Amino acid sequence: MNRDNLIQAVLDALHSLAQTLSMVSLYSLDHPHVHTFKTNFMKSIRLLHGELPELSIIVFNNDLLFEGKPLAGDLSLKRLCKSFNKAGVEHVTFKPGVTDTDISEFISLLHNCGDLSVFKNDNRGLKLGMVNIPGADSEMIASYNDLTQDRLQGLQNLYNAMSTREPLDSKQLMSLVGGFIAAFRNECNPLMALIPIRKMDEYTFTHSVNVGILNIAQGMSLGISGELLNDLGMAGMLHDAGKMFVDMAIIQKPGMLTDEEFEMMKTHPVRGAQYLMGQEGIPKLAVITAFEHHMRYDLHGYPATPSGWSLNLCSQMTMISDTFDALRTKRVYKDPWDLPKICGHMLTLAGGQLNRDLTYNFIKLITEMGQDLPPGQMDDLMPAKECYCE
Ligand SMILES: [Fe+2]
Ligand SMILES: [Fe+2]
Repeated sequence: MNRDNLIQAVLDALHSLAQTLSMVSLYSLDHPHVHTFKTNFMKSIRLLHGELPELSIIVFNNDLLFEGKPLAGDLSLKRLCKSFNKAGVEHVTFKPGVTDTDISEFISLLHNCGDLSVFKNDNRGLKLGMVNIPGADSEMIASYNDLTQDRLQGLQNLYNAMSTREPLDSKQLMSLVGGFIAAFRNECNPLMALIPIRKMDEYTFTHSVNVGILNIAQGMSLGISGELLNDLGMAGMLHDAGKMFVDMAIIQKPGMLTDEEFEMMKTHPVRGAQYLMGQEGIPKLAVITAFEHHMRYDLHGYPATPSGWSLNLCSQMTMISDTFDALRTKRVYKDPWDLPKICGHMLTLAGGQLNRDLTYNFIKLITEMGQDLPPGQMDDLMPAKECYCE
């Protein structure tokens, strides 16, 4: 392996470690998604051990150094560097005998800012240099590691229950939103949190969660925090609540809707707002957003508005998240689009269908986050089947 290839192999290994840590912010350590990234990391380390007696990385300020020289830092490496700094790791050496258990324990301790001194033992396959950070434990940020299949299923049931007009458990949704906010603060890439759609009957649920995630990401990028950020997330998760009152056959129709079916579909903003208005613990912003999210920025959408209507900012942000998730998944008339093509199309909508400034901000945000994704990640997020998404 020549020098350039060696550096690239080190970068690949560190990217895999960063992705594993990002996944652990969302899922538990034993989740299959985490396992996949961890396995990639182990493979990269083994490949490097064929070239080097051991792999040592030094953490210096905001840089990671290999053989004394800083590695070209992208967003992913910056996140990793931040995690090392937060945990007080000054350098790390992966010895040839490093085991899967060593790596799991290291990732878990790094993620939780736990006691890394367990790696002081020379028998371990991993050696750490540490600084003591007083009070580091007290600064630990809560993480969202509870997104198990059971929990997702429970939330999907909660969504489905809306159609039978059962009272909505707003606390469950609020905890999901709070979990995502904590995970994104903890350096998890929101794009990695987007849930892929595998079955048509999961569409409304997964789309709703994804719009909530994208709303939170937009809000954080604009410096919004606290209750308003929670409300933005809730509004995204509930924007399509009215679809539960539209015939399932229309919602799940894989092709184009007839005029009559489209008229039915167009009732979902009003029906959603009416439903949410009567529910306890639902932010007013979610009611307004459900009502306004198809009005378009130029007010040429639906429901029709009286002249001089002023759109809520949260509705305008939700339109952007909604459009992105729809373009990401809509495949009836086109092949799947990659990130640059989606962003290019959204730019053509800026100032007409979508608020110009918010769209520019969103594209900047998505482009930065997209660079941090492993190759093929966006493809993984595409649904297996075609679906009607708007
Ligand atoms: Fe909608
Ligand atoms: Fe939607």
